[in-house]
Amino acid sequence: TFMHEAMGLSVLENQLKDKVQVRNVIIVPGNSDEHHWVKQEMGKACASYLQEHMTSNQTIAVTGGTTIAAVADMIGALTNDMNCLFVPARGGIGEKEENQANTIAAKMARQSNGTYRLLYVPDPLSENSYQTMIKEPAVIEVLKLIKDADVVLHGIGDAITMAKRRKTSEEIIRKLEEEKAVSEAFGYYFNGSGEVVHKVRTIGIHLDDLSENRKTVVTVAGGKSKAQAITSYFKQGKSDLLITDEAAAEAILRDN
Ligand code: F6P
Repeated sequence: TFMHEAMGLSVLENQLKDKVQVRNVIIVPGNSDEHHWVKQEMGKACASYLQEHMTSNQTIAVTGGTTIAAVADMIGALTNDMNCLFVPARGGIGEKEENQANTIAAKMARQSNGTYRLLYVPDPLSENSYQTMIKEPAVIEVLKLIKDADVVLHGIGDAITMAKRRKTSEEIIRKLEEEKAVSEAFGYYFNGSGEVVHKVRTIGIHLDDLSENRKTVVTVAGGKSKAQAITSYFKQGKSDLLITDEAAAEAILRDN
């Protein structure tokens, strides 16, 4: 029954809080590897959380990926009239248009009657253009908004899955394998102890920025296939809330 399931999940939520050491956990039923509606349920849970916890005129920085895109689908009527500003957390990092942080930020703004500012960064970004771009006044302005964001909403991916999805060179993929990369978030690749083993050169939020106290970091990642990646990110990564699904939660709790 519904109550039964709700109670079962809250037990699981408490166990997961202990296991990954995060203050808040929300678990939705199912496995998002198998059913897209499970991603939408995580999206809905995230949208309600934002609705309850955000105040007017705050800035939200978002990453790309299909999970955060599902949050954008569900944010609809929920955050009306909050007048929030949406920005991408980082410049392009190899995602398809519909799953890019820019696209998602604009969509969230449209759906919630908010505003948005975008980062136009070539992808991939050479060292030279990086040095030039970070001096551009327009980039500096958006970068400041990103760094000052009140809420950061991000996904986590399996390291090799993400590297391949981004058409990363064979050389870098070999490096990731040698360094035993397990997870990826914000363009950073982490090993099983949560140490950064590689980063994608782009403009935007840095890991250090996340530990600012006034920032709320919301992580949305589910699916059994992401269990190890989630565990790896939470070894060192800062997050105030993990929204995940039952399949990921069970797999995380199973292995040590
Ligand atoms: O590329 C953006 C990003 O947020 C990555 O940092 C993350 O690993 C990935 O997308 C998650 O994508 P998905 O939600 O599609 O699994």
